[in-house]
Amino acid sequence: MEEAKAEIHRTNFEKTIVRSEAFSYFRGAQGSFLLHWLASSPLEAAFFVEDHLSVRIGLAFNLKPNVPSSTEGDKSTSPSTSAADSRNLRPDLEQPDLYAEWDEPATIDAVEHALSALGKVIRLEADATFPAKLVKARPDFVFNIAEGLYGPNREGHVPAICEFLDIPYSASDPLTLGLALHKGRAKETLVFHGVPTAPFLLAHSRKDARNVTLPFPLFAKPALEGSGKGISVRSLCKNRAQLVARVGELLDTYKQPVVVETYLPGAEYTVAILGNDTDTRCLPVVGMRWDALPEGAPPIYGYEAKWLWDSPDRPLDLFECPATISDNLADEVRAVALGAFRALGCRDWCRVDIRCDASGHPMVVELNPLPGILPDPRDNSCFPKAARAAGMSYDALIQTAADIAWRRISGQSLLKRVAA
Ligand SMILES: Nc1ncnc2c1ncn2[C@@H]1O[C@H](COP(=O)(O)OP(=O)(O)OP(=O)(O)O)[C@@H](O)[C@H]1O
Ligand SMILES: [Mg+2]
Repeated sequence: MEEAKAEIHRTNFEKTIVRSEAFSYFRGAQGSFLLHWLASSPLEAAFFVEDHLSVRIGLAFNLKPNVPSSTEGDKSTSPSTSAADSRNLRPDLEQPDLYAEWDEPATIDAVEHALSALGKVIRLEADATFPAKLVKARPDFVFNIAEGLYGPNREGHVPAICEFLDIPYSASDPLTLGLALHKGRAKETLVFHGVPTAPFLLAHSRKDARNVTLPFPLFAKPALEGSGKGISVRSLCKNRAQLVARVGELLDTYKQPVVVETYLPGAEYTVAILGNDTDTRCLPVVGMRWDALPEGAPPIYGYEAKWLWDSPDRPLDLFECPATISDNLADEVRAVALGAFRALGCRDWCRVDIRCDASGHPMVVELNPLPGILPDPRDNSCFPKAARAAGMSYDALIQTAADIAWRRISGQSLLKRVAA
């Protein structure tokens, strides 16, 4: 089935190439005659030329609201300054961190800029008009960085709509995105595949928290959030009273089950993965430097560390890449990360968070199949940081991810095509 689909897309792509080759052949006097014959006006002919020469890439994204677009106002503002503004909590909302996962204008601009070297980019904001816009645009494929808004399947909405319309898209499919977003379901899948992860349970009520039999300390976090949402220094619970209080707060705020798992006290790493099948590789491992946190803060990369303590004026020097790590442990960390990538059926790219248990064994904390990709190096975004350590610029990272997706979809390399 997958092969048949790849064949169809390959055929469509080849038609595009054949059309553009035919166009090159007819460039010249007869060419302009032919174009005018195919298109009823010179203007239409111009569109015909552009459309048939490049791959059309739909860029699906969710834009953080209430942030001035980079197309308005002072363009000289540094991306980090505007990023910091947009990170402010929204005290007007019941969930002040509601939009933490969405992208800032600087990120969307940067991704668009990188992709435009590969083809014609069509911006498709993943709002209520996304399905209609997608039908109208019908790009050759969608480069998906949209996190979605509503419900436990929000990350799968854009890819599911693409599938409904038979439009290929980058990154993982709705099943994998849904599995990875639900940290409980993800851990069940990891356990089934023998990939190490901390013992856990799902708490649906305060009573579940009171009845926990796992040994303390424990860690409590919402089952269905990312970007540090609901993860705070209070997630580390040293006794039952703290756990019941924290689980209660999380249930009330996020209205979803809470993952209660063994606290992993060891070193933390994150691994950026690119590729598919046998051609899957890890970028240099990123390590956390807990000594960079404010004095007395527990070693947790949660909401405070991500969005409050790390600011452009007082950046936290929290990451090192490549991590200071023994070769053996680095091999183990990469093997665990790749095991998680495969267990959940990830595609094209993913960042896997890993932390060592009390005995120093790496355990999967969670997977990010729609990884954060903030372009400004001062923003401490781990995937671009790992790419830089591998000698890959931001543009090269985005273009490589798009190329990996397009090769999976069509069997053709976009990078080779533009280089030719
Ligand atoms: N079981 C655990 N033991 C120790 N620390 C943990 C545990 N689970 C999470 N953490 C800490 O909390 C941080 C955030 O957890 P997690 O990665 O699950 O949240 P997230 O919001 O999905 O992250 P991201 O920003 O990567 O999307 C981890 O990076 C780690 O520092
Ligand atoms: Mg994480």
